[in-house]
Amino acid sequence: MALPDPALVVLVGASGSGKSTWAAERYRAEEVISSDALRGIVGSGPHDLEASADAFAVLESVVTARLGRRLTTVVDTLGFDVARRRSWLSRARSAGLPTVLVLVETPAEECRRRNAARDRPLPSRVLAGQLLRQREVEAEVRDEGWDVVVPISAEPTPSAPRLAVARPTDDRTASTGVQVVLQVSRFPWGEEPMAWLRDVALAADQAGFAGLALMDHLIQIPQVGRAWDPIPEPWVTLGAVAALDTSLRLGTLCTPTTFRRPGITAKAAATLSALTGGRVFVGIGAGWWHREHAAYGLPFPSAATRFDDLEHAIQVMRALWAPGTKEYTAVGLTLPETTCYPRPTAPIPVIVGGNGERRTLRIAAALGDACNLLTSEPQVVRHKVDVLRQHCTDVGRDPSQVAVTVLDLPVVGRDREDVWRRVELHRGRTAAAAYAARKHAGTVAEHRDRHAGLAELGVSTVFLSTPDLDGPEAVLALGGLNA
Ligand code: UTP
Ligand code: MG
Repeated sequence: MALPDPALVVLVGASGSGKSTWAAERYRAEEVISSDALRGIVGSGPHDLEASADAFAVLESVVTARLGRRLTTVVDTLGFDVARRRSWLSRARSAGLPTVLVLVETPAEECRRRNAARDRPLPSRVLAGQLLRQREVEAEVRDEGWDVVVPISAEPTPSAPRLAVARPTDDRTASTGVQVVLQVSRFPWGEEPMAWLRDVALAADQAGFAGLALMDHLIQIPQVGRAWDPIPEPWVTLGAVAALDTSLRLGTLCTPTTFRRPGITAKAAATLSALTGGRVFVGIGAGWWHREHAAYGLPFPSAATRFDDLEHAIQVMRALWAPGTKEYTAVGLTLPETTCYPRPTAPIPVIVGGNGERRTLRIAAALGDACNLLTSEPQVVRHKVDVLRQHCTDVGRDPSQVAVTVLDLPVVGRDREDVWRRVELHRGRTAAAAYAARKHAGTVAEHRDRHAGLAELGVSTVFLSTPDLDGPEAVLALGGLNA
């Protein structure tokens, strides 16, 4: 569109709407009088708000001088000040110049996106105020007497190609009715830890697992391996998995509250949430293994204290993840503020690990999003679910708010022959029949039936770990559980 020229051109628009960009594409630099640029000349930089008065004094005198010479003058400020607009308008009229008002009406969302991408973003509150003011100004200028009012709605810039980050909306519930999360507890990664981790995580994603859970131990536990087998720090390791292009939810099962102060776990989880588009869960427990605490110089208080700490930890994490930064107070706990940025991209489920009926399940009922039972024995699961529901009733929580998840450690084989080969391989000194029964040894089809039975008992998620999970092939072989 051809605009009158020479003319007074006044820009109106919130920060990041694209005023300066629009002007720079159409006018010579000397024709554009920008309050930001003048702040940089009379002050320390374009954002030096303390230099505003001086900058505007210069701006006004440049505008007067240029209009007096009938030179095109583009005024690049927010344009929200009625008195200034009227004054520029009347000076241009006196000089006999046509007057143009350019309303840069970039969608609010785009302004926010651009603002966030800037080196020095405005506080979101300030930008929100500007976006509101913009609406009013659009109405105000109608009666001010401008010769031309030009609305510009800038096209959103196509964003650069990004690593696809799956939103936690894709539902990976198997047709058995449960979600299966792969629990990786052994790391036979040889000389190439990162390559092994990548292959296992990509295989888990390809095999349709809903997520990947890592144990949080400082020494490999005897139930799984030898003390000198590698057992990586899980939050660091999940950070590496976060860099891979998967839809897996990522978390620990379980993080003992004895290892890290809860605010630090909250920070790690919030960061991982931001890095993964919200695909994070936190399994949390009271800690149980004295040896790893002693070896790493960590206090290992009494069970009663550890359970108190667990309650406290969940409250601290939730307070830090909640919107806003307000003070948090609960019994025995005061946080003067709850400032935790980056914020989690999606709510982070807290899964309370353990079977203890008196404290663990009660804490899960009161504060958890889920409990994780350390068994997948249907009889035991049924009983624990009853206890959990009773606790929910006692503490006034809707039982449907607390999911039931189980740790499932089966032996899975291709066929009967393969199943028994694996039983023989792993049974150690336990009698084969007893080991096979304890490990529900069977084929994928048999485990699917078992998972369907767990779903009927109210189990939503199965954390699955097999004794021969040594690489990507083993992970892919379990894919049928997710169908
Ligand atoms: P501008 O710096 O032009 O916005 O663009 P503005 O309205 O003048 O903002 P303030 O009031 O001075 O703060 C802001 C950002 O948006 C990009 C620019 O490259 C800049 O980084 N932009 C602008 C686009 O990506 N596309 C456009 O069409 C316009
Ligand atoms: Mg600008």
